[in-house]
Amino acid sequence: MQKVLDQISEKMARAFAAAGYDPSYGKVTVSNRPDLCEYQCNGALAAAKQYHCAPIQIARAVAEQLDQGDYDMVEAVMPGFINLKLSGAFLQQYVEAMRTEPDFGTEKSGAGKTVVVDYGGANVAKPLHIGHLRPAIIGEALKRLHRYLGYHTIGDVHLGDWGLQMGLIIAELHRRQPELPYFDEAFTGPYPTEPPFTLSELEEIYPTASARKKEDADFAREAHIATFELQKGRPGYRAIWQHIMHVSLADLHRLYDALDVHFDVWLGESDADPLIPDMLADLKQRGFAVESEGALVFPVAEPTDRKEVPPCILVKSDGAAIYATTDLATLVQRQRDYAPDKILYVTDKRQALHFEQVFRAAKKSGIIPEATHLEHLGHGTMNGSDGKPFKTRDGGVMRLETLLADMTAFVRAKVVENRIVEDSEVDATTAKITLAALKYGDLSNQPTKDYNFDVERFAAFEGNTGPYLLYTIVRIKSILAKYGAWESLPIQAPANPFAKDVMLALTKFGPTLETALRSSSPNVLCAYLFDLAGAVNKFYHETRILTEENKTLREGYISLIGLALNVLETGIHLLGFSAPEKM
Ligand code: ARG
Repeated sequence: MQKVLDQISEKMARAFAAAGYDPSYGKVTVSNRPDLCEYQCNGALAAAKQYHCAPIQIARAVAEQLDQGDYDMVEAVMPGFINLKLSGAFLQQYVEAMRTEPDFGTEKSGAGKTVVVDYGGANVAKPLHIGHLRPAIIGEALKRLHRYLGYHTIGDVHLGDWGLQMGLIIAELHRRQPELPYFDEAFTGPYPTEPPFTLSELEEIYPTASARKKEDADFAREAHIATFELQKGRPGYRAIWQHIMHVSLADLHRLYDALDVHFDVWLGESDADPLIPDMLADLKQRGFAVESEGALVFPVAEPTDRKEVPPCILVKSDGAAIYATTDLATLVQRQRDYAPDKILYVTDKRQALHFEQVFRAAKKSGIIPEATHLEHLGHGTMNGSDGKPFKTRDGGVMRLETLLADMTAFVRAKVVENRIVEDSEVDATTAKITLAALKYGDLSNQPTKDYNFDVERFAAFEGNTGPYLLYTIVRIKSILAKYGAWESLPIQAPANPFAKDVMLALTKFGPTLETALRSSSPNVLCAYLFDLAGAVNKFYHETRILTEENKTLREGYISLIGLALNVLETGIHLLGFSAPEKM
């Protein structure tokens, strides 16, 4: 459906033309003085320069030409603004169309386009820590947003499953259990099907090995060699790698499920590995990759650079392929398999230079066509409520699971204390409120900014929070349940200013989604939903809905809050959470 702004801008352009002025001045914007009007057109001010006359004169002449049926108020005011308030009839017709069209008539700007969203970024064999929360939450929301707006969308977790951490685990395992067949080069298999470690052992092995690497140079060398041999395909190491993957992935699935984060593909750095040799040969042959101090590098600096952009290192002097190499090879795979129009990476903003280098290399070499939109959304840090980096009590990095458990306990206590639901539903309701609190607390901030994590604030049922949105939804649901079947009731012209505000807010759903997508800012959608919920709550307080005696009015009210409910539920679904039945 055409946006309200576009519709009334078109009509405004025609009014300019009818009054004898250039139609290109007829651009309407949302009012910046909501106390005076809903929309405004400032075109007469600019036109006055061309036509050498007073802007107010033009504004008046244009206002005359507007179809009065569209507006409750058309006012030409000094020095030459045209202030507008939409008519009830206009809004009724528009909002009714939103009610009856699929997806509220949102324009599918992504139709025919493919996007890959690379987010999550979990590292195999290392527990998810709070650093993984933001890419998961933000990426999931942006993935859902793209899908809703018509993109063919592929969400890829892009596992860190190929780096030095694997070599460290292998080296550590070798230290502890050298007798295992994986280390015997004469062993011809088959290797045991049972992994030589449990998940909790694996989670202990990695940090131990990582600490040992810093103190013990020999061990560090062994780990590097093991990484290199794994990448070269040594069978025993590949078998250990399989075990690590198996044990670790099961756990990652469980955690991402708990976060309601779902990937379409679980590819990772290792999947890009087979593409590396051909890619390197090609880049060398075409002169993009050059030897430098024993390493193979891809220079990507541009004369216009204001800060130094070092070359992209493809093969280190020890022969190992690194992060940039697998990312570039992953682009080869994505171009081959999906030929996407856009690839969006969601990671910590400290990786900005890495992506700058990789993107430049990909475009320069033609691995990715010039027209493809490559975007790195570098998110800020989640700090503790004191504004300092989030740490466990003993100063370590907090596991995501611990954070989730703490927050769940906090919310659960509230649910129990307020006797919100039957005992049997406490867990399910708690889980929904917790996710809403956690995700909205994150997403309502600009992704690129840091923010402070604050359980009490995020989980509050009032204020700009996820639970407040859930509460609004639950409240509407309970009114509708009392009313009965409401789904086919048509929208009516607003009977009071509060109904009108709800309708005006509803019309902004589609434009909001577009802005949120274009600027990779789920916070724009959060702010919208908060406003819409506010308008609905205000309407509910000021209007007798169920007890309204006039049947037509009553039906109009019910239909309106029904549509608001559907929009709110769709909105929170796009943010990645959902509402309980009771709260
Ligand atoms: N595993 C990486 C990390 O923990 C994030 C991966 C992001 N995606 C990518 N294609 N590099 O930092």
